[in-house]
Amino acid sequence: METLKSARNGIDIPLVGFGTYQLSAEQAEFCVSEALKAGFRHIDSAEGYNNEEGTGRGIKAAGIPRDEIFLTTKLFPGNKQWGAPEKNYEQTIDSLKNQLQQLQLDYVDLYLIHAPLSELRLEQWTALVELKKSGLTKHIGVSNYNEERIKEILDEGLAKPEANQVEFHPICAQIDLSGYMKENSITPIAYSSLAPLLTWRTEEGQGGEVLAELKQECQGVINEIARKLKVSEARLLLRWGLQHDYCVLTRSSKAERIRENLNVFNFKIPDTDMERLDRLNQDEAFAWAANGLNPMEVAPPLK
Ligand SMILES: NC(=O)c1ccc[n+]([C@@H]2O[C@H](COP(=O)([O-])OP(=O)(O)OC[C@H]3O[C@@H](n4cnc5c(N)ncnc54)[C@H](OP(=O)(O)O)[C@@H]3O)[C@@H](O)[C@H]2O)c1
Repeated sequence: METLKSARNGIDIPLVGFGTYQLSAEQAEFCVSEALKAGFRHIDSAEGYNNEEGTGRGIKAAGIPRDEIFLTTKLFPGNKQWGAPEKNYEQTIDSLKNQLQQLQLDYVDLYLIHAPLSELRLEQWTALVELKKSGLTKHIGVSNYNEERIKEILDEGLAKPEANQVEFHPICAQIDLSGYMKENSITPIAYSSLAPLLTWRTEEGQGGEVLAELKQECQGVINEIARKLKVSEARLLLRWGLQHDYCVLTRSSKAERIRENLNVFNFKIPDTDMERLDRLNQDEAFAWAANGLNPMEVAPPLK
């Protein structure tokens, strides 16, 4: 499916990726296999999702050649506040090696630091640079890094992150950061594109109820434009991200929705409707809110 592949600032990355957060290992196996069979060629995983073995089995079951799949995964950096030990250089190297074993792969396409939660983040970044040199990952990047956190890396004269994965949807539009990433050729990847939906994370323990009132205020506009364009609200939100030059990630535990979420290349949101959606921005992040934090704002500057 050619429309799925495109370079975003130098990384040849399929524009729509399938995410695996909040899936059990068994669900990840089924859903990743379904997603690949449906045409997804970009899978988003993480050490912290505790399901990489299932994701690996799903990749194997789909029978797609490895070089046709773009696999991203993330380092869990550790976090003092959660009592989770922070990873040093060697532990970061070992993390990817362990993850590759779980995934049953020889390399990943993109390795990210999941969030700037650790004071050892520059040491972790140095390890990612080494992992790229050794070929265990093709590209390296970060996630949940704001401009200040990215500059910490650049100010040390270290290699620039090739990508930054952040929450991005009309209510959380990352305007300044998006501009900064564009200027600096850092590939933008959107997560939780569907957070404005009332159907987002509705199962118990998934945390979708947080900030529900705010969503309801935006629902009218999203619903009206989706109906006018004769597309579902989910497709509208994913398309909005693509038209802002982001790669978008989406996740569903249901085969029908997995297929629906890939169907975003045969319509365009007119400029006037893009502007209406853009006006919903409140710089409000939902994805980590159930944990009581915004990962882009918690890290104090390094001394
Ligand atoms: N770097 C980070 O810190 C970070 C944070 C969050 C997410 N991520 C990545 O980004 C991926 C996507 O984010 P997300 O998990 O928040 O997923 P999402 O795609 O924004 O939303 C998933 C939720 O929406 C529902 N949904 C999916 N398709 C739908 C459709 N067509 N119509 C109505 N509802 C639909 C799903 O329910 P059902 O399962 O019931 O269909 C689920 O509750 C994650 O899986 C993960 O890989 C990264």
